[in-house]
Amino acid sequence: MEQILDLLGNYVAEAFDLAGYDKDLGKVTISNRPDLCEYQCNGAMAGAKRYHKAPLAIAQDVAGILEGCDAFERAEAVAPGFLNLKLSPQLLSIFLNEMKGEKRLGVPEAETKKKIIIDYGGANVAKPLHVGHLRSAVIGESVKRILRFLGHETIGDVHLGDWGLQMGLIIAQLSEDKPELPYFDEAYEGAYPEEAPFTISELEQIYPKASQRSKEDEAFRLKALKATEQLQHGHRGYTAVWKHILDVSIADLKKNYDSLHVSFELWKKESDAQPYIPDLVEYLKKEGYAHLDQGALVVDVAEETDTKKIPPCMILKSDGASLYNTTDLATIVMRMENWKPDHIIYVVDKRQDLYFTQVFRCARKAKLVDEDTGLTFLGFGTMNGRDGKPFKTRDGGVMRLENLIAEINEEMLRKICENHETDPAEAEETAKIVALSAIKYGDLSNQASKDYIFDTDKFTSFEGNTGPYLLYTIVRIKSILRRFLEETGKKRRDLDGLQILPAKAEDEKALQLTLTSFVPAVLQAGAELAPHKICGYLYELANQFNRFYHGTKIMTESLQAQRESYIALLCLTLRTLECGIDLLGFTAPEKM
Ligand code: ARG
Repeated sequence: MEQILDLLGNYVAEAFDLAGYDKDLGKVTISNRPDLCEYQCNGAMAGAKRYHKAPLAIAQDVAGILEGCDAFERAEAVAPGFLNLKLSPQLLSIFLNEMKGEKRLGVPEAETKKKIIIDYGGANVAKPLHVGHLRSAVIGESVKRILRFLGHETIGDVHLGDWGLQMGLIIAQLSEDKPELPYFDEAYEGAYPEEAPFTISELEQIYPKASQRSKEDEAFRLKALKATEQLQHGHRGYTAVWKHILDVSIADLKKNYDSLHVSFELWKKESDAQPYIPDLVEYLKKEGYAHLDQGALVVDVAEETDTKKIPPCMILKSDGASLYNTTDLATIVMRMENWKPDHIIYVVDKRQDLYFTQVFRCARKAKLVDEDTGLTFLGFGTMNGRDGKPFKTRDGGVMRLENLIAEINEEMLRKICENHETDPAEAEETAKIVALSAIKYGDLSNQASKDYIFDTDKFTSFEGNTGPYLLYTIVRIKSILRRFLEETGKKRRDLDGLQILPAKAEDEKALQLTLTSFVPAVLQAGAELAPHKICGYLYELANQFNRFYHGTKIMTESLQAQRESYIALLCLTLRTLECGIDLLGFTAPEKM
Protein backbone atom coordinates (compact mmCIF):
# COMPACT_ATOMS: atom_id res chain seq x y z
CA MET A 1 0.00 0.00 0.00
CA GLU A 2 1.04 3.55 -0.62
CA GLN A 3 2.59 5.58 2.17
CA ILE A 4 0.62 8.48 3.52
CA LEU A 5 3.11 11.15 2.45
CA ASP A 6 3.26 9.78 -1.08
CA LEU A 7 -0.50 9.57 -1.22
CA LEU A 8 -0.87 13.21 -0.17
CA GLY A 9 2.05 14.20 -2.38
CA ASN A 10 0.17 12.88 -5.40
CA TYR A 11 -2.77 15.17 -4.72
CA VAL A 12 -0.57 18.21 -4.23
CA ALA A 13 1.58 17.42 -7.27
CA GLU A 14 -1.58 17.20 -9.31
CA ALA A 15 -2.64 20.61 -8.01
CA PHE A 16 0.74 22.13 -8.93
CA ASP A 17 0.33 20.68 -12.38
CA LEU A 18 -3.21 22.02 -12.80
CA ALA A 19 -2.01 25.45 -11.65
CA GLY A 20 0.64 25.36 -14.37
CA TYR A 21 3.71 24.47 -12.31
CA ASP A 22 6.01 21.52 -12.17
CA LYS A 23 4.58 18.42 -10.55
CA ASP A 24 7.80 17.70 -8.70
CA LEU A 25 7.23 20.71 -6.46
CA GLY A 26 4.38 18.90 -4.78
CA LYS A 27 6.32 17.07 -2.09
CA VAL A 28 4.50 16.77 1.23
CA THR A 29 6.15 16.46 4.63
CA ILE A 30 4.89 16.17 8.17
CA SER A 31 4.32 19.64 9.56
CA ASN A 32 7.02 21.08 11.73
CA ARG A 33 4.38 23.36 13.25
CA PRO A 34 1.82 20.80 14.42
CA ASP A 35 -0.01 23.62 16.19
CA LEU A 36 -0.84 25.14 12.78
CA CYS A 37 -1.36 22.17 10.49
CA GLU A 38 -0.76 18.45 10.07
CA TYR A 39 1.24 18.44 6.84
CA GLN A 40 3.00 21.02 4.76
CA CYS A 41 4.42 21.55 1.31
CA ASN A 42 7.28 23.95 0.66
CA GLY A 43 7.24 23.52 -3.11
CA ALA A 44 6.16 27.10 -3.82
CA MET A 45 9.35 28.35 -2.16
CA ALA A 46 11.44 26.27 -4.50
CA GLY A 47 9.25 27.24 -7.46
CA ALA A 48 9.73 30.99 -6.90
CA LYS A 49 13.11 31.08 -8.61
CA ARG A 50 12.05 28.82 -11.43
CA TYR A 51 8.97 30.89 -12.29
CA HIS A 52 10.22 34.33 -11.21
CA LYS A 53 7.14 34.70 -9.11
CA ALA A 54 6.49 35.41 -5.45
CA PRO A 55 6.29 32.11 -3.57
CA LEU A 56 3.09 33.20 -1.85
CA ALA A 57 1.41 33.74 -5.22
CA ILE A 58 2.34 30.23 -6.32
CA ALA A 59 1.15 28.79 -3.02
CA GLN A 60 -2.14 30.66 -3.41
CA ASP A 61 -2.65 29.28 -6.90
CA VAL A 62 -2.14 25.76 -5.65
CA ALA A 63 -4.24 26.27 -2.54
CA GLY A 64 -7.05 27.50 -4.76
CA ILE A 65 -7.07 24.21 -6.59
CA LEU A 66 -6.72 22.13 -3.44
CA GLU A 67 -9.74 23.98 -2.08
CA GLY A 68 -12.03 21.69 -4.00
CA CYS A 69 -10.00 18.54 -3.40
CA ASP A 70 -11.57 16.12 -0.98
CA ALA A 71 -8.22 14.86 0.31
CA PHE A 72 -7.85 17.94 2.46
CA GLU A 73 -10.06 19.50 5.05
CA ARG A 74 -8.04 22.69 4.66
CA ALA A 75 -5.25 23.87 2.35
CA GLU A 76 -3.92 27.29 3.14
CA ALA A 77 -1.22 29.44 1.61
CA VAL A 78 0.70 31.34 4.25
CA ALA A 79 3.58 33.81 4.06
CA PRO A 80 6.21 33.59 2.78
CA GLY A 81 4.92 30.75 0.63
CA PHE A 82 4.13 27.62 2.57
CA LEU A 83 1.15 25.40 2.02
CA ASN A 84 -0.36 24.34 5.32
CA LEU A 85 -2.42 21.21 4.97
CA LYS A 86 -5.01 19.47 7.06
CA LEU A 87 -5.97 15.99 6.01
CA SER A 88 -9.63 15.25 5.47
CA PRO A 89 -11.03 12.77 8.00
CA GLN A 90 -12.55 10.79 5.11
CA LEU A 91 -9.24 10.13 3.40
CA LEU A 92 -7.62 9.36 6.74
CA SER A 93 -10.23 6.72 7.52
CA ILE A 94 -9.88 5.18 4.06
CA PHE A 95 -6.13 4.98 4.61
CA LEU A 96 -6.51 3.34 8.02
CA ASN A 97 -9.06 0.81 6.82
CA GLU A 98 -6.58 -0.19 4.17
CA MET A 99 -3.76 -0.41 6.73
CA LYS A 100 -6.04 -2.58 8.87
CA GLY A 101 -6.34 -5.04 6.01
CA GLU A 102 -2.58 -5.34 5.60
CA LYS A 103 -0.80 -8.16 7.37
CA ARG A 104 2.36 -6.05 7.78
CA LEU A 105 0.37 -2.89 8.59
CA GLY A 106 1.53 -1.36 5.34
CA VAL A 107 5.27 -1.71 5.95
CA PRO A 108 6.78 -2.40 2.52
CA GLU A 109 9.40 -5.09 2.06
CA ALA A 110 12.86 -3.86 1.07
CA GLU A 111 13.30 -3.69 -2.69
CA THR A 112 16.72 -5.31 -2.55
CA LYS A 113 16.68 -8.08 -0.03
CA LYS A 114 20.02 -8.49 1.65
CA LYS A 115 21.64 -11.28 3.56
CA ILE A 116 22.77 -9.70 6.81
CA ILE A 117 24.85 -11.25 9.57
CA ILE A 118 24.39 -9.59 12.93
CA ASP A 119 27.25 -10.24 15.31
CA TYR A 120 25.82 -9.69 18.79
CA GLY A 121 25.71 -11.21 22.22
CA GLY A 122 29.45 -11.75 22.27
CA ALA A 123 29.46 -13.47 25.66
CA ASN A 124 32.68 -15.04 26.89
CA VAL A 125 32.38 -18.63 27.98
CA ALA A 126 33.23 -19.46 31.56
CA LYS A 127 32.64 -15.88 32.59
CA PRO A 128 29.20 -15.14 33.92
CA LEU A 129 27.04 -12.96 31.67
CA HIS A 130 27.26 -9.51 33.13
CA VAL A 131 25.28 -6.40 32.38
CA GLY A 132 27.77 -5.26 29.75
CA HIS A 133 26.60 -8.10 27.57
CA LEU A 134 23.00 -7.19 28.17
CA ARG A 135 23.16 -4.24 25.82
CA SER A 136 24.66 -6.18 22.95
CA ALA A 137 22.00 -8.88 23.31
CA VAL A 138 19.08 -6.50 23.62
CA ILE A 139 20.08 -4.07 20.87
CA GLY A 140 21.28 -6.78 18.50
CA GLU A 141 18.09 -8.77 18.87
CA SER A 142 15.94 -5.74 18.11
CA VAL A 143 18.03 -4.68 15.12
CA LYS A 144 17.77 -8.22 13.80
CA ARG A 145 13.99 -8.29 14.19
CA ILE A 146 13.59 -4.91 12.49
CA LEU A 147 15.72 -5.94 9.52
CA ARG A 148 13.95 -9.26 9.25
CA PHE A 149 10.58 -7.51 9.31
CA LEU A 150 11.78 -5.37 6.42
CA GLY A 151 12.28 -8.54 4.43
CA HIS A 152 16.01 -9.12 4.76
CA GLU A 153 17.53 -12.49 5.47
CA THR A 154 19.08 -12.09 8.89
CA ILE A 155 21.55 -14.39 10.59
CA GLY A 156 22.36 -13.70 14.22
CA ASP A 157 25.73 -15.01 15.37
CA VAL A 158 26.56 -15.00 19.09
CA HIS A 159 30.32 -15.12 18.36
CA LEU A 160 31.31 -16.51 21.74
CA GLY A 161 34.65 -15.60 23.22
CA ASP A 162 36.23 -18.99 23.88
CA TRP A 163 39.80 -18.52 22.77
CA GLY A 164 41.49 -16.10 25.10
CA LEU A 165 43.51 -16.15 28.26
CA GLN A 166 40.39 -16.92 30.32
CA MET A 167 40.66 -20.53 29.15
CA GLY A 168 44.28 -20.83 30.26
CA LEU A 169 43.43 -19.25 33.58
CA ILE A 170 40.74 -21.81 34.28
CA ILE A 171 42.93 -24.72 33.17
CA ALA A 172 45.82 -23.53 35.32
CA GLN A 173 43.59 -23.04 38.34
CA LEU A 174 41.88 -26.38 37.90
CA SER A 175 45.21 -28.17 37.56
CA GLU A 176 46.07 -26.90 41.02
CA ASP A 177 42.67 -27.45 42.62
CA LYS A 178 42.27 -30.96 41.22
CA PRO A 179 45.68 -32.19 40.10
CA GLU A 180 44.46 -35.80 40.22
CA LEU A 181 42.26 -35.31 37.12
CA PRO A 182 43.48 -37.22 34.05
CA TYR A 183 43.58 -34.05 31.93
CA PHE A 184 46.73 -33.00 33.75
CA ASP A 185 48.49 -36.34 33.53
CA GLU A 186 50.79 -35.99 30.51
CA ALA A 187 51.24 -39.76 30.32
CA TYR A 188 47.50 -40.47 30.23
CA GLU A 189 46.38 -41.97 26.93
CA GLY A 190 42.90 -43.26 27.73
CA ALA A 191 39.56 -41.65 27.01
CA TYR A 192 38.59 -38.66 29.16
CA PRO A 193 35.42 -38.63 31.29
CA GLU A 194 32.18 -37.56 29.57
CA GLU A 195 31.04 -35.69 32.63
CA ALA A 196 32.53 -32.24 33.27
CA PRO A 197 34.63 -32.01 36.45
CA PHE A 198 32.70 -28.89 37.55
CA THR A 199 29.21 -27.42 37.61
CA ILE A 200 28.40 -24.01 36.20
CA SER A 201 28.49 -22.39 39.63
CA GLU A 202 31.88 -23.97 40.36
CA LEU A 203 33.12 -22.82 36.98
CA GLU A 204 31.96 -19.31 37.66
CA GLN A 205 33.95 -19.30 40.86
CA ILE A 206 37.12 -20.64 39.28
CA TYR A 207 37.43 -17.84 36.76
CA PRO A 208 37.32 -14.78 39.07
CA LYS A 209 39.63 -16.57 41.50
CA ALA A 210 42.15 -17.36 38.78
CA SER A 211 41.88 -13.94 37.23
CA GLN A 212 42.53 -12.24 40.57
CA ARG A 213 45.47 -14.54 41.26
CA SER A 214 47.09 -13.84 37.91
CA LYS A 215 47.28 -10.18 38.86
CA GLU A 216 49.18 -10.88 42.06
CA ASP A 217 51.10 -14.02 41.24
CA GLU A 218 53.44 -13.71 38.26
CA ALA A 219 54.32 -17.42 38.22
CA PHE A 220 50.65 -18.27 38.03
CA ARG A 221 50.09 -15.78 35.23
CA LEU A 222 52.88 -17.37 33.20
CA LYS A 223 51.42 -20.77 33.85
CA ALA A 224 48.04 -19.60 32.54
CA LEU A 225 49.66 -18.07 29.47
CA LYS A 226 51.47 -21.30 28.78
CA ALA A 227 48.28 -23.33 29.20
CA THR A 228 46.52 -20.97 26.79
CA GLU A 229 49.22 -21.48 24.22
CA GLN A 230 49.24 -25.25 24.72
CA LEU A 231 45.48 -25.34 24.34
CA GLN A 232 45.76 -23.33 21.15
CA HIS A 233 48.26 -25.86 19.88
CA GLY A 234 45.95 -28.76 20.53
CA HIS A 235 47.09 -30.13 23.91
CA ARG A 236 44.92 -33.23 24.34
CA GLY A 237 43.99 -32.94 28.01
CA TYR A 238 43.45 -29.18 27.88
CA THR A 239 41.31 -29.53 24.80
CA ALA A 240 39.13 -31.95 26.74
CA VAL A 241 38.80 -29.47 29.63
CA TRP A 242 38.03 -26.70 27.17
CA LYS A 243 35.23 -28.79 25.69
CA HIS A 244 33.76 -29.31 29.15
CA ILE A 245 33.92 -25.58 29.75
CA LEU A 246 32.08 -24.94 26.49
CA ASP A 247 29.35 -27.49 27.19
CA VAL A 248 28.66 -26.31 30.69
CA SER A 249 28.87 -22.64 29.74
CA ILE A 250 26.82 -22.78 26.59
CA ALA A 251 23.97 -24.61 28.30
CA ASP A 252 23.88 -21.86 30.88
CA LEU A 253 24.16 -19.08 28.31
CA LYS A 254 21.28 -20.49 26.32
CA LYS A 255 19.13 -20.45 29.43
CA ASN A 256 20.04 -16.83 30.06
CA TYR A 257 19.47 -15.68 26.51
CA ASP A 258 16.17 -17.56 26.46
CA SER A 259 14.94 -15.65 29.45
CA LEU A 260 15.79 -12.46 27.57
CA HIS A 261 13.91 -13.66 24.46
CA VAL A 262 17.16 -13.45 22.57
CA SER A 263 18.01 -16.22 20.14
CA PHE A 264 20.77 -16.85 17.66
CA GLU A 265 20.77 -18.62 14.33
CA LEU A 266 24.47 -19.37 14.75
CA TRP A 267 26.38 -20.33 17.86
CA LYS A 268 29.82 -19.77 16.38
CA LYS A 269 32.81 -19.21 18.58
CA GLU A 270 36.16 -17.50 18.22
CA SER A 271 37.72 -20.95 18.09
CA ASP A 272 35.73 -21.77 14.94
CA ALA A 273 37.68 -19.12 13.08
CA GLN A 274 41.09 -20.44 14.10
CA PRO A 275 41.43 -22.98 11.24
CA TYR A 276 41.21 -20.06 8.80
CA ILE A 277 44.18 -18.24 10.30
CA PRO A 278 47.17 -20.03 8.70
CA ASP A 279 45.86 -19.48 5.15
CA LEU A 280 44.87 -15.93 5.95
CA VAL A 281 48.35 -15.12 7.24
CA GLU A 282 49.92 -16.74 4.20
CA TYR A 283 47.67 -14.76 1.88
CA LEU A 284 48.33 -11.43 3.60
CA LYS A 285 52.05 -12.02 3.33
CA LYS A 286 52.05 -13.29 -0.22
CA GLU A 287 49.92 -10.47 -1.58
CA GLY A 288 52.09 -7.95 0.21
CA TYR A 289 49.37 -6.55 2.43
CA ALA A 290 51.24 -7.44 5.60
CA HIS A 291 54.78 -6.59 6.58
CA LEU A 292 57.03 -7.15 9.57
CA ASP A 293 57.34 -4.36 12.09
CA GLN A 294 59.68 -5.03 15.03
CA GLY A 295 59.07 -8.73 14.61
CA ALA A 296 55.27 -8.42 14.51
CA LEU A 297 53.25 -8.98 11.35
CA VAL A 298 51.05 -5.94 10.67
CA VAL A 299 48.86 -4.41 7.98
CA ASP A 300 48.98 -0.61 7.66
CA VAL A 301 45.51 0.84 7.69
CA ALA A 302 46.15 4.58 8.14
CA GLU A 303 44.65 6.81 5.44
CA GLU A 304 45.72 10.25 4.30
CA THR A 305 42.50 11.87 5.36
CA ASP A 306 42.70 10.56 8.94
CA THR A 307 42.49 13.28 11.54
CA LYS A 308 43.67 10.98 14.31
CA LYS A 309 46.26 8.27 14.22
CA ILE A 310 44.99 4.85 13.22
CA PRO A 311 47.63 2.31 14.23
CA PRO A 312 48.37 -0.69 12.00
CA CYS A 313 46.24 -3.80 12.37
CA MET A 314 48.37 -6.45 14.07
CA ILE A 315 48.06 -9.95 12.63
CA LEU A 316 50.72 -11.87 14.56
CA LYS A 317 52.68 -10.86 17.62
CA SER A 318 56.45 -11.19 17.49
CA ASP A 319 56.17 -14.57 19.23
CA GLY A 320 53.89 -15.73 16.42
CA ALA A 321 50.71 -15.71 18.49
CA SER A 322 47.50 -14.51 16.85
CA LEU A 323 45.25 -11.91 18.43
CA TYR A 324 41.64 -10.81 18.82
CA ASN A 325 42.15 -8.93 15.49
CA THR A 326 43.33 -12.02 13.73
CA THR A 327 40.32 -13.95 14.97
CA ASP A 328 37.95 -11.26 13.74
CA LEU A 329 39.60 -11.15 10.31
CA ALA A 330 39.49 -14.94 10.08
CA THR A 331 35.84 -14.82 11.12
CA ILE A 332 35.17 -12.48 8.21
CA VAL A 333 36.83 -14.97 5.87
CA MET A 334 34.77 -17.79 7.35
CA ARG A 335 31.55 -15.80 6.98
CA MET A 336 32.27 -14.85 3.39
CA GLU A 337 33.08 -18.43 2.55
CA ASN A 338 30.07 -20.00 4.22
CA TRP A 339 27.30 -17.41 4.00
CA LYS A 340 28.51 -14.71 1.62
CA PRO A 341 26.62 -11.96 3.45
CA ASP A 342 25.86 -8.60 1.82
CA HIS A 343 26.37 -6.93 5.13
CA ILE A 344 27.82 -7.67 8.56
CA ILE A 345 26.72 -5.60 11.55
CA TYR A 346 28.66 -5.72 14.82
CA VAL A 347 26.80 -4.75 17.96
CA VAL A 348 29.65 -4.19 20.39
CA ASP A 349 30.70 -1.79 23.16
CA LYS A 350 31.64 1.52 21.57
CA ARG A 351 35.03 1.40 23.26
CA GLN A 352 35.95 -1.08 20.52
CA ASP A 353 35.33 1.57 17.87
CA LEU A 354 38.97 2.13 16.90
CA TYR A 355 39.57 -1.59 16.95
CA PHE A 356 36.79 -2.22 14.43
CA THR A 357 37.99 0.66 12.27
CA GLN A 358 41.30 -1.20 11.98
CA VAL A 359 39.67 -4.56 11.32
CA PHE A 360 37.28 -3.17 8.67
CA ARG A 361 40.00 -1.26 6.88
CA CYS A 362 42.25 -4.28 6.88
CA ALA A 363 39.45 -6.49 5.54
CA ARG A 364 38.73 -4.02 2.74
CA LYS A 365 42.34 -3.36 1.87
CA ALA A 366 43.15 -7.06 1.69
CA LYS A 367 39.90 -7.73 -0.21
CA LEU A 368 38.65 -10.25 2.34
CA VAL A 369 35.18 -8.88 1.55
CA ASP A 370 33.65 -7.79 -1.74
CA GLU A 371 33.68 -4.13 -2.60
CA ASP A 372 29.99 -3.82 -1.88
CA THR A 373 29.90 -5.88 1.31
CA GLY A 374 28.73 -3.62 4.09
CA LEU A 375 30.62 -3.63 7.38
CA THR A 376 28.97 -1.66 10.13
CA PHE A 377 30.02 -1.09 13.69
CA LEU A 378 27.04 -0.36 15.91
CA GLY A 379 28.77 0.72 19.09
CA PHE A 380 26.80 1.13 22.29
CA GLY A 381 27.50 3.16 25.39
CA THR A 382 27.84 2.03 28.98
CA MET A 383 24.98 1.08 31.23
CA ASN A 384 25.51 3.09 34.40
CA GLY A 385 24.01 2.97 37.85
CA ARG A 386 22.19 5.89 39.44
CA ASP A 387 25.52 7.25 40.62
CA GLY A 388 26.54 7.69 36.99
CA LYS A 389 29.24 5.01 37.27
CA PRO A 390 29.19 1.61 35.55
CA PHE A 391 26.38 -0.49 36.95
CA LYS A 392 27.36 -2.52 40.02
CA THR A 393 25.73 -4.63 42.70
CA ARG A 394 24.83 -2.94 45.98
CA ASP A 395 28.12 -4.01 47.50
CA GLY A 396 30.10 -2.77 44.52
CA GLY A 397 30.67 -6.08 42.71
CA VAL A 398 30.08 -6.89 39.07
CA MET A 399 26.35 -7.35 38.57
CA ARG A 400 25.43 -10.66 37.02
CA LEU A 401 22.72 -10.47 34.45
CA GLU A 402 20.77 -13.25 36.10
CA ASN A 403 20.65 -11.34 39.36
CA LEU A 404 19.61 -8.13 37.70
CA ILE A 405 16.74 -9.91 35.98
CA ALA A 406 15.71 -11.58 39.24
CA GLU A 407 15.72 -8.20 41.00
CA ILE A 408 13.50 -6.58 38.40
CA ASN A 409 11.17 -9.59 38.38
CA GLU A 410 10.75 -9.25 42.10
CA GLU A 411 10.07 -5.54 41.93
CA MET A 412 7.49 -6.09 39.22
CA LEU A 413 5.81 -8.86 41.18
CA ARG A 414 5.55 -6.58 44.19
CA LYS A 415 3.89 -3.88 42.08
CA ILE A 416 1.47 -6.26 40.43
CA CYS A 417 0.36 -7.79 43.71
CA GLU A 418 0.02 -4.30 45.17
CA ASN A 419 -2.33 -3.28 42.37
CA HIS A 420 -4.80 -6.10 42.75
CA GLU A 421 -5.29 -9.63 43.94
CA THR A 422 -4.19 -12.30 41.51
CA ASP A 423 -3.41 -15.92 41.47
CA PRO A 424 0.25 -16.15 42.61
CA ALA A 425 1.42 -18.32 39.70
CA GLU A 426 -0.26 -16.02 37.21
CA ALA A 427 1.16 -12.95 38.90
CA GLU A 428 4.63 -14.41 38.66
CA GLU A 429 4.26 -15.12 34.94
CA THR A 430 2.96 -11.62 34.33
CA ALA A 431 5.74 -10.08 36.41
CA LYS A 432 8.33 -11.79 34.23
CA ILE A 433 6.78 -10.47 31.04
CA VAL A 434 6.51 -6.94 32.37
CA ALA A 435 10.00 -7.02 33.87
CA LEU A 436 11.49 -7.92 30.53
CA SER A 437 9.75 -4.95 28.94
CA ALA A 438 11.16 -2.72 31.68
CA ILE A 439 14.72 -3.90 31.09
CA LYS A 440 14.61 -3.92 27.31
CA TYR A 441 12.68 -0.72 26.80
CA GLY A 442 14.84 1.06 29.38
CA ASP A 443 17.83 0.18 27.24
CA LEU A 444 16.37 0.54 23.75
CA SER A 445 14.63 3.85 24.30
CA ASN A 446 18.04 5.50 24.46
CA GLN A 447 20.10 6.08 21.37
CA ALA A 448 22.44 3.06 21.41
CA SER A 449 25.69 5.02 21.27
CA LYS A 450 24.85 6.98 24.43
CA ASP A 451 25.59 5.89 27.97
CA TYR A 452 22.44 5.53 30.01
CA ILE A 453 21.45 5.19 33.62
CA PHE A 454 19.69 2.00 34.64
CA ASP A 455 17.13 3.35 37.05
CA THR A 456 15.01 0.53 38.45
CA ASP A 457 12.30 2.82 39.87
CA LYS A 458 11.91 4.68 36.62
CA PHE A 459 12.09 1.66 34.32
CA THR A 460 9.52 -0.35 36.26
CA SER A 461 7.03 2.49 36.53
CA PHE A 462 3.63 2.09 34.86
CA GLU A 463 3.70 5.74 33.93
CA GLY A 464 6.01 7.70 31.70
CA ASN A 465 8.25 6.59 28.88
CA THR A 466 8.66 2.95 29.97
CA GLY A 467 8.04 -0.59 28.77
CA PRO A 468 5.44 -1.28 31.48
CA TYR A 469 3.51 1.83 30.36
CA LEU A 470 3.29 0.43 26.83
CA LEU A 471 2.17 -2.93 28.17
CA TYR A 472 -0.34 -1.27 30.43
CA THR A 473 -1.80 0.50 27.42
CA ILE A 474 -1.97 -2.75 25.47
CA VAL A 475 -3.65 -4.53 28.36
CA ARG A 476 -6.15 -1.68 28.66
CA ILE A 477 -7.12 -2.09 24.99
CA LYS A 478 -7.34 -5.86 25.32
CA SER A 479 -9.68 -5.54 28.26
CA ILE A 480 -12.01 -3.15 26.38
CA LEU A 481 -12.07 -5.56 23.46
CA ARG A 482 -12.92 -8.46 25.76
CA ARG A 483 -15.80 -6.48 27.22
CA PHE A 484 -17.03 -5.58 23.77
CA LEU A 485 -17.02 -9.22 22.70
CA GLU A 486 -18.81 -10.26 25.87
CA GLU A 487 -21.49 -7.63 25.53
CA THR A 488 -22.15 -8.13 21.85
CA GLY A 489 -21.63 -11.86 21.66
CA LYS A 490 -19.34 -11.29 18.68
CA LYS A 491 -16.32 -13.46 17.95
CA ARG A 492 -12.73 -12.25 17.78
CA ARG A 493 -12.58 -12.66 14.03
CA ASP A 494 -15.68 -10.46 13.62
CA LEU A 495 -13.55 -7.56 14.76
CA ASP A 496 -11.58 -7.60 11.51
CA GLY A 497 -14.66 -6.63 9.55
CA LEU A 498 -15.40 -3.47 11.55
CA GLN A 499 -14.79 -0.19 9.74
CA ILE A 500 -13.11 2.93 11.02
CA LEU A 501 -15.31 5.97 10.37
CA PRO A 502 -13.99 9.48 9.69
CA ALA A 503 -12.88 11.06 12.96
CA LYS A 504 -15.19 13.62 14.55
CA ALA A 505 -13.22 14.64 17.62
CA GLU A 506 -9.72 16.12 17.94
CA ASP A 507 -8.32 13.28 20.10
CA GLU A 508 -9.70 10.70 17.76
CA LYS A 509 -8.12 12.31 14.74
CA ALA A 510 -4.81 12.75 16.55
CA LEU A 511 -4.73 9.02 17.33
CA GLN A 512 -5.61 8.17 13.74
CA LEU A 513 -2.86 10.43 12.41
CA THR A 514 -0.32 8.87 14.74
CA LEU A 515 -1.19 5.44 13.37
CA THR A 516 -0.20 6.61 9.88
CA SER A 517 3.34 7.26 11.16
CA PHE A 518 4.03 3.64 11.99
CA VAL A 519 5.43 2.81 8.57
CA PRO A 520 7.86 5.77 8.41
CA ALA A 521 8.99 5.01 11.97
CA VAL A 522 9.85 1.40 11.12
CA LEU A 523 11.56 2.38 7.87
CA GLN A 524 13.67 4.96 9.65
CA ALA A 525 14.58 2.55 12.45
CA GLY A 526 15.70 0.05 9.82
CA ALA A 527 17.69 2.53 7.76
CA GLU A 528 19.48 3.92 10.82
CA LEU A 529 19.66 0.66 12.80
CA ALA A 530 17.96 2.62 15.53
CA PRO A 531 15.43 0.79 17.73
CA HIS A 532 14.99 3.98 19.76
CA LYS A 533 13.01 5.41 16.84
CA ILE A 534 10.46 2.67 17.33
CA CYS A 535 10.38 3.31 21.08
CA GLY A 536 9.74 7.01 20.47
CA TYR A 537 6.95 6.20 18.08
CA LEU A 538 5.27 3.66 20.37
CA TYR A 539 5.40 6.05 23.30
CA GLU A 540 3.69 8.71 21.19
CA LEU A 541 1.09 6.21 20.03
CA ALA A 542 0.38 5.05 23.58
CA ASN A 543 0.01 8.66 24.71
CA GLN A 544 -2.36 9.50 21.89
CA PHE A 545 -4.38 6.41 22.63
CA ASN A 546 -4.68 7.18 26.32
CA ARG A 547 -5.73 10.76 25.57
CA PHE A 548 -8.42 9.41 23.24
CA TYR A 549 -9.47 6.80 25.80
CA HIS A 550 -9.90 9.35 28.57
CA GLY A 551 -11.86 11.74 26.37
CA THR A 552 -14.18 9.26 24.66
CA LYS A 553 -17.10 7.20 25.87
CA ILE A 554 -16.29 4.09 23.93
CA MET A 555 -18.44 1.38 25.42
CA THR A 556 -21.39 3.66 26.18
CA GLU A 557 -21.53 5.18 22.71
CA SER A 558 -25.15 4.72 21.63
CA LEU A 559 -24.68 4.74 17.85
CA GLN A 560 -23.69 1.21 16.94
CA ALA A 561 -21.63 2.13 13.86
CA GLN A 562 -19.74 4.74 15.86
CA ARG A 563 -19.04 2.34 18.69
CA GLU A 564 -17.84 -0.28 16.23
CA SER A 565 -15.62 2.31 14.60
CA TYR A 566 -13.99 3.03 17.96
CA ILE A 567 -13.47 -0.69 18.44
CA ALA A 568 -11.91 -0.98 14.99
CA LEU A 569 -9.59 1.90 15.86
CA LEU A 570 -8.65 0.11 19.08
CA CYS A 571 -7.90 -3.09 17.19
CA LEU A 572 -5.58 -1.28 14.82
CA THR A 573 -3.86 0.54 17.67
CA LEU A 574 -3.41 -2.76 19.48
CA ARG A 575 -1.93 -4.49 16.47
CA THR A 576 0.44 -1.60 15.85
CA LEU A 577 1.61 -1.55 19.46
CA GLU A 578 2.05 -5.32 19.51
CA CYS A 579 3.94 -5.34 16.26
CA GLY A 580 6.15 -2.55 17.61
CA ILE A 581 7.05 -4.29 20.85
CA ASP A 582 7.74 -7.48 18.94
CA LEU A 583 10.34 -5.53 16.96
CA LEU A 584 11.83 -4.43 20.26
CA GLY A 585 11.91 -8.04 21.46
CA PHE A 586 9.22 -8.31 24.11
CA THR A 587 5.57 -9.27 24.46
CA ALA A 588 2.53 -8.18 26.45
CA PRO A 589 0.46 -10.15 28.97
CA GLU A 590 -3.33 -10.52 28.83
CA LYS A 591 -3.82 -8.76 32.14
CA MET A 592 -1.64 -6.93 34.59
N1 ARG B 1 33.59 -11.23 23.42
C1 ARG B 1 33.82 -9.85 23.15
C2 ARG B 1 33.79 -9.05 24.45
O1 ARG B 1 33.25 -9.49 25.45
C3 ARG B 1 32.80 -9.25 22.22
C4 ARG B 1 32.79 -9.84 20.83
C5 ARG B 1 32.29 -8.88 19.82
N2 ARG B 1 32.31 -9.39 18.47
C6 ARG B 1 33.39 -9.50 17.69
N3 ARG B 1 33.27 -10.02 16.49
N4 ARG B 1 34.57 -9.10 18.09
O2 ARG B 1 34.31 -7.95 24.47
